[in-house]
Amino acid sequence: MRIVDLRSDTITKPTSAMRRAMAEAEVGDDVLGDDPTVKRLEEMAAARLGKEAGLFVASGTMGNLVSLLAQCGRGDEVIVGDQAHTYVYEQGGMAALGGIHPRVLRNQPDGTLDLDEIVAAIRDPHNPHFPKSRLITVENTHNRCGGSPLSVDYMRSLGKLAREHGLLLHLDGARIFNAAIALGVDVKALAADADSLTFCLSKGLAAPVGSVVCGSKPFIAEARRARKVVGGAMRQVGVIAAAGIVALEQMVERLAEDHANAGILAAGLAELPGIRVEDVPVRTDIVYFNVTRADMDAAQLTARLGEHGVRMLPLGPRRIRAVTNYHVTADDIEAALVTCRAILA
Ligand SMILES: Cc1ncc(COP(=O)(O)O)c(C=O)c1O
Repeated sequence: MRIVDLRSDTITKPTSAMRRAMAEAEVGDDVLGDDPTVKRLEEMAAARLGKEAGLFVASGTMGNLVSLLAQCGRGDEVIVGDQAHTYVYEQGGMAALGGIHPRVLRNQPDGTLDLDEIVAAIRDPHNPHFPKSRLITVENTHNRCGGSPLSVDYMRSLGKLAREHGLLLHLDGARIFNAAIALGVDVKALAADADSLTFCLSKGLAAPVGSVVCGSKPFIAEARRARKVVGGAMRQVGVIAAAGIVALEQMVERLAEDHANAGILAAGLAELPGIRVEDVPVRTDIVYFNVTRADMDAAQLTARLGEHGVRMLPLGPRRIRAVTNYHVTADDIEAALVTCRAILA
């Protein structure tokens, strides 16, 4: 049976070039600063994002956590969207491990936070009742908001707002290269206003493990300390970083294929009875749709699709997510649509 795995872009397996690079990687004890492959990846990532320095971490979750731990103290407040991965899916790590208080604002459907609502949420620093507003965090692309990319204009306005109010800006750029490719802009332009950012090598870029945190040298020094305390300092980790280098060198431009396939999938699903596809201003690799008919819910439809080799994730009673990725071809998308059509007919 043909398997079309649309559960996530995290299901991607390392390419042959990655496996070769991993086997041949020069390594050393990275905690002692001896791993040349990790250093190369960190320098390459920082240069690509237009930042001074980089730090290789185990995951996107760790990247977000160490970025916040490095920049916020106990009782500081972080302004965050109610749909943000950092808020919804990371066990409240900022609060659990950092004593950081989340100030939650509603995400707009396109993944942005309303700038006026941010300003209204900033605390009066002279009033001892309040936590101290310290940092704003946004996600680009925004996973739960349809995979929408936040524009360069929005990031600029947000950066300006943050600076005017003495706040830091963190960017959860797990899929920042998807945003740059979809918007047709240099990724540096999306990163420019962020004091800290993290991006994932192990999603659409298909590396098996890892994310890179980027920012100024002093910030990265603090993030390195934070990585140590959460047990994320690793030794001969160049064997993994080597795949990350290949990911950055070879896998970024091809994300456009995933976006095109997602567009075809969304258009095909939109024609089916009992399905409502969620609109996005700019499509990346993520498609959300809802099952509207009374006799079937999201779990039932994904179970039926699964029986025919089409894998998607139910993320609500009626909401389903499909994510295109390196292993899914245009042909696979057509096959998945044929299966959807047959089940919903
Ligand atoms: C937007 C976003 N941020 C962070 C993460 C966390 O990445 P990881 O699974 O590597 O911890 C994810 C994972 O899906 C994500 O979608």
